[in-house]
Amino acid sequence: MVSVIAQDKEAAAFAPAVVVITGGAGFIGGTLVRWLLATYPDLRVVTYDSLTYAGNLDSLADVFATHGPRGDGRHYFVKADVCDAAALSAVLDGKATETGGTRVVPTADAMAHLAAESHVDRSILGPAEFINTNVVGTQVVLECVRGTLDRSPRPFRMLHVGTDEVYGDLGPQDVASVEDSPIKPSSPYAASKASADHLIGAWHRTFGTPVLLTRCGNNYGPYQFPEKLIPLVITRALAGASIPVYGDGMQIRDWIHAEDHARALWTVLTRGTLGRTYNVSAGEQRTNREVITSILRQLGRPESLMTRVVDRLGHDRRYALDNMRITFELGWRAEHSWDDGISATVRWFEANREWWGRVTSEAYRAAEALYLTS
Ligand SMILES: NC(=O)c1ccc[n+]([C@@H]2O[C@H](COP(=O)([O-])OP(=O)(O)OC[C@H]3O[C@@H](n4cnc5c(N)ncnc54)[C@H](O)[C@@H]3O)[C@@H](O)[C@H]2O)c1
Repeated sequence: MVSVIAQDKEAAAFAPAVVVITGGAGFIGGTLVRWLLATYPDLRVVTYDSLTYAGNLDSLADVFATHGPRGDGRHYFVKADVCDAAALSAVLDGKATETGGTRVVPTADAMAHLAAESHVDRSILGPAEFINTNVVGTQVVLECVRGTLDRSPRPFRMLHVGTDEVYGDLGPQDVASVEDSPIKPSSPYAASKASADHLIGAWHRTFGTPVLLTRCGNNYGPYQFPEKLIPLVITRALAGASIPVYGDGMQIRDWIHAEDHARALWTVLTRGTLGRTYNVSAGEQRTNREVITSILRQLGRPESLMTRVVDRLGHDRRYALDNMRITFELGWRAEHSWDDGISATVRWFEANREWWGRVTSEAYRAAEALYLTS
């Protein structure tokens, strides 16, 4: 039954020629950009990113070399803000010129919207930027999609990338969140993402904007910015430094490898039902303490490196996602097991000290000069 539904959907799949990835210089966006260009030889990809502290063109070095103007020419980069309606509309309309180059960006027929402020701790220290990029930015993106389709009606799909944090925390006995579970965000980050999700639903219902929405748990994998738990633990353990653990470390997160997430995003964008929400989960729920100890064990470092620090304000205890909809309707499932995925990630960080060394020393901020000269 599952395969019949999946095959029917496959037959009716939307096959874009040009996709815009907002936030493509970030961790998950970059994973999606690399995976798309490697998997679909005819697809052209436009990375649209303002390069905040989290945007890092070093992470796309292979993409610039293989698919930029001196490669097969299938990748374009535009440095601009999602709140800049004129810049984004020009990209969607095929009237923008790539940053640092001379090529005109091709007209888009799909968009995956990942640009966001993404770090919960930063949202507690300074919420304003989260409202600006995540809420106002998403409204601008929606209006730009509506505008380009008014000017030039064509088959088009936009995917908004959301988070399980909008469901708020679960008690130990609660069942996993389904797509229709109540929205109860705890942090300013989660509240900004929940607001964006509501805008997505409203634009679909009111204007018929062709949108889809995914909600995913915690991602890990190569190129993740070292402020996030897993790369933070790996890089500090490699340096023999203490590992801060919030409170008792028993907070549970739903972990997924970013490549599995990228495949899920494309599955939903091309085969999902417009206006629908899909949870994305590998079903790998782990406490923070389990995550940290498994990394320390792999690196042969002592558990005494763990140092308890005051718990994060409003810290959610547990997230868990039900993934039945994406599994049964679209036939997606995770390919990376937790054990294999985390050990490969640890090995990647061990082998790529130069990449994260440039992040921790902030040298990556000058990476633009390396990649954006024609
Ligand atoms: N990391 C996770 O575990 C996770 C889990 C679920 C959902 N998400 C969502 O996935 C998306 C990507 O997350 P990530 O971890 O890759 O984030 P990230 O912080 O690594 O990257 C964000 C990217 O967006 C860009 N950006 C930020 N503000 C911008 C703006 N105003 N205009 C244009 N570009 C801007 C940054 O330069 C950066 O390249 C986000 O929407 C996030 O909410 C992340």
